Amino acid sequence: MRRWGAVMLFCTARRAVALLAPRRRQPTRLYSLPGASDYHVPVLGNECIDWLARDDGVFVDCTLGGGGHSSLLLDKVGEKAKVIGLDRDRDAIQAASARIRDARFSTIEGVFDEGLQRAFQEHGKFTGVLMDLGVSSHQIDDAERGFSTRFDGPLDMRMGASGKTALDLINDLDAKGLARLLRQNADEPHASRIAKAVKSASLTTTSDLASIVSESIPKTSPPHLDAKRRSKAVARVFQALRIEVNDELGALDRALELLPSVVAEGGRVVVLAYHSLEDRRVKRFFRDGKFRGDAARDAYGNRLTPFRPLTRKAETASDEEVAANPRARSARLRVAERTDWSPS
Ligand SMILES: C[S@@+](CC[C@H](N)C(=O)[O-])C[C@H]1O[C@@H](n2cnc3c(N)ncnc32)[C@H](O)[C@@H]1O
Repeated sequence: MRRWGAVMLFCTARRAVALLAPRRRQPTRLYSLPGASDYHVPVLGNECIDWLARDDGVFVDCTLGGGGHSSLLLDKVGEKAKVIGLDRDRDAIQAASARIRDARFSTIEGVFDEGLQRAFQEHGKFTGVLMDLGVSSHQIDDAERGFSTRFDGPLDMRMGASGKTALDLINDLDAKGLARLLRQNADEPHASRIAKAVKSASLTTTSDLASIVSESIPKTSPPHLDAKRRSKAVARVFQALRIEVNDELGALDRALELLPSVVAEGGRVVVLAYHSLEDRRVKRFFRDGKFRGDAARDAYGNRLTPFRPLTRKAETASDEEVAANPRARSARLRVAERTDWSPS
């Protein structure tokens, strides 16, 4: 009897300890992040919308993708607001239009500057503009699009349907030109070796490119670090080509330069960048109103800029978000507000 009593006491004590102990938090899962869909999981979803949403006005989501950020925005804005989703990829326009059934929402297919011009002609000045740069998970996961380093597909990498493919680009450049591109767009330390190897091979698919790049990297030990270095080089080469094929930096520059004339005074621009080439441009433009040289000044030395940065340092994703969505790791969020000054 005594033994039973002791066992009962032990069990009760254990249950009490379990109840009192702080609960271990469940890890956040990818698809439970705000705005997530099979198409794409938005990065910093709530943060972007908190900066952007107002009750009324015209909002342009320049990078509609799966419509994750747009749906979060529609949840926050008022009855009379309008949200225009812009994307150069028809898949994105179709997927987001099927997902979002809302009279306040419409779409435009096109590149940033042409889409912004069309939205401005139809709706007037904007209260908010969002740019979540780069490619969507859907684009990466569809082997036929040629963005993935993991799946075999044609060397395409175009976000839209027109223009040169990655294979056209490789064929058009000589080894020096290709090396320059790898250095400029991805800081590739083995640019010359890789470019020579790529130009002397016959390649047509993403797997061909990935193995040529991987084999051209000099061997080091230990083997597991060697494999990591090779896969990083492959990722950088794919990134460099993708940026060029889609003229990503040119499109971003043209869009930023257009914003002062299409964003209303007090309106906000929210940009999520995933690599330093883009983030640096956004930071400079928000601070100085141009990409080179100092901001204009009035007779008293006051800076004259079309935007006022609202984020002193770029915001980044929480550890929890990064654990659920590793893509969020490199995200840099910057926000600026339109001032009353306009460049002449
Ligand atoms: C990172 S995804 C956006 C995902 C979206 N925020 C969501 O929540 O689903 C970027 C999207 O922007 C589009 N895009 C990138 N650059 C573009 C440009 N210059 N003009 C138009 N669309 C562009 C891509 O086609 C892609 O669908």
